Amino acid sequence: MIEPTRWLASTCAAVLACSLALPAAAQQAHHPTPAVAAALRKEPLLLGTAWYPEQWPESRWDADLTLMEQAHIHVVRVGEFAWSTMEPHEGDFQFGWLDRAIAAAARHHIQVVLGTPTAAPPAWLTSKYPDTLRVNEDGRREEHGNRQQFSFTSPTYRRFAAQIAAEMAKHFGHNPNVIGWQIDNELAAPSFDPSAQAAFHAWLAHRYGTIANLNRRWATAYWSQTYDNFNEIPVHSKGENPALLLDWKRFVTDTWISYCENQIDAMRPYLAPTQWITTNTMHWFSGFDHYKLHTILDLAAWDDYVPDGHLDPAFNALEHDLVRGYKRENFWVMETQPAFVNWAPVNSPLPRGVTREMAWQAVAHGADAVLYWQWRSAPNGQEQYHGTLLGADGTPVPVYAEVQQTGADMDTLNSALAKQHLTLSQFDTHSAVAMLQSYDSHWAIDFQRHTKKFDYVQAFTSVYRAIEPIAQNVDIVSPRAPLSTYKIVFAPALNVLPDSLAPHLLEYVRNGGHLVLTARSGMKNVDNGLQPERQPGPLADALGARVAQFYALDAPVEVSGKIGSGKASIWAEQLQPTAPDTHVLLTYGTGNGWLTGHPAAVTRTVGKGSITYLGCDLDAALMKRFVASLLDEADVHPIVTGLPEGVELTQRTAPDGEQLWFVLNHTSTSQKVSLPHAGEDLLTGEHSASLQLKPHGIAVWEWKQ
Ligand code: GAL
Repeated sequence: MIEPTRWLASTCAAVLACSLALPAAAQQAHHPTPAVAAALRKEPLLLGTAWYPEQWPESRWDADLTLMEQAHIHVVRVGEFAWSTMEPHEGDFQFGWLDRAIAAAARHHIQVVLGTPTAAPPAWLTSKYPDTLRVNEDGRREEHGNRQQFSFTSPTYRRFAAQIAAEMAKHFGHNPNVIGWQIDNELAAPSFDPSAQAAFHAWLAHRYGTIANLNRRWATAYWSQTYDNFNEIPVHSKGENPALLLDWKRFVTDTWISYCENQIDAMRPYLAPTQWITTNTMHWFSGFDHYKLHTILDLAAWDDYVPDGHLDPAFNALEHDLVRGYKRENFWVMETQPAFVNWAPVNSPLPRGVTREMAWQAVAHGADAVLYWQWRSAPNGQEQYHGTLLGADGTPVPVYAEVQQTGADMDTLNSALAKQHLTLSQFDTHSAVAMLQSYDSHWAIDFQRHTKKFDYVQAFTSVYRAIEPIAQNVDIVSPRAPLSTYKIVFAPALNVLPDSLAPHLLEYVRNGGHLVLTARSGMKNVDNGLQPERQPGPLADALGARVAQFYALDAPVEVSGKIGSGKASIWAEQLQPTAPDTHVLLTYGTGNGWLTGHPAAVTRTVGKGSITYLGCDLDAALMKRFVASLLDEADVHPIVTGLPEGVELTQRTAPDGEQLWFVLNHTSTSQKVSLPHAGEDLLTGEHSASLQLKPHGIAVWEWKQ
């Protein structure tokens, strides 16, 4: 993959102003400096909230902070939309109010994460410099009055963004109550303005060198797409050559990286060595490659919302595991809802107890902080109906008590660990099972679903749902992540499987790893072109089988094997063994004339490990049996067996081997859980080998080996 800063530095000087040519590079996975890593490990588990002091008279701040302290809130995120208060006129920086807000928080033992306010440019900026406004794909320029209305490539915007970031860093970079920084807020919409078009063309020129090379790799003879020069290439995110579409996403990724680096590089020289930098990301948002973005950040942080109020515990668990995989480290939940949001078709609340259950599920999956959005609604503004902790009169709403209970529990856990000179952030997640998540594959499938029912996220989730109850801890990582510590690796719908990735996967397998690919894997090369070997492309030889044909299904097809029988729906591939030692695990029955009697899943020993290929989307029950048999063969077993249905257990481990088991009751009835050893529930102090969990109740159970 191209290195973002190199293309910017080498090609953009002539195209864009110098503010786009950035010094520091994102070539390597970024590990926080030792000072930042130590600072993160020192923090106890933190409960927090988004607080907007600029929206309230200073005379109110103390009352708010007192109520926060009473809810055991120890961190606030501040400032991420306050540009017009920090710089009311061009070059006129006003940080006195923020100094006082941070000092007031400190008096209440509340630390601060500062947001750079670049998601909400002030009106003076967008009016005087309209070239900073984003242009939508339909060519319409955004206007002031909402947020995120900036162009991510605009050199003018980058100049102002670097300046406010630098001024903030100079002012607050050594404030001992500021522990870290959030760049911008939920990076999302790309721009299609002239600066973005020029940057895309420069990016392509750097990637391909010559237009002839691009024409060859994109196969532009198709529909007379052949280009004479890079400037002829259209700038679109849909309806184009699949190679162009994939490169547009990669360009957007690199542009968001350089957008963040523009601010980070302006700030770093002024920051205390312990202050860390993150940004907050969104769920399964596929606008850019999150693995790549996180190579320049110290910490992963995301915003966990359940818009309709109906928590799907496995889906939410998966999302936490996804975020933990961005840096393969613990993470933060930078925002979550106090009961409900305001942007779903029906903004129903989480049932009683589930706001607390969600916070602990985050912690169970590796979160070291959970912050509610937001503390109190602004008197006006677009989000008046969103869930908050205080009402319009400034007194607590009912869910405040549940959050307060969560905070009290977190303080209890922190004190119990502190007695052992530990903090929760020293406890990591170790998994025997990994899933490979690929943005290239997600994008490539979304461009050409072939059946509207094939959804990458759904395909991925259906495999996760079968793995999680057995493995209990699951890592979700990029296909290029180190794999040697995993007993088994699942790669659902790894559609883009470039030749350069195959040796990494084969090395894992030859050394004893078990690789499981599912339908649509290995079809595309790095340019989103068809792999000539047929699926699974560069792994077809090792698998000793290939996909003879793929079919979108409008009705289910029967599938059966030693493990049982069931149905395949949505997608089915007719597999064809090509080696004598390839074993058939599942075979299609009747339902689609092309498939009848052909293999639906095959496996083959390769070196000390194996490759398995499942060519269809199995019903949940058969998927469970299929996955269970593979996990069993790979010697993966539950950490704790015999959990009641709806009870989840995960494990976090300290460097000295001490284990915490997070036991979560996702049901609305009490549940009794028997554990294999006696231990202590750190929240109640009870010592026993069994737990009685209330509806939506949780336990943090400690035992030492
Ligand atoms: C997030 C955003 C917050 C707030 C919240 C409401 O996406 O970062 O600023 O708008 O949604 O749910």
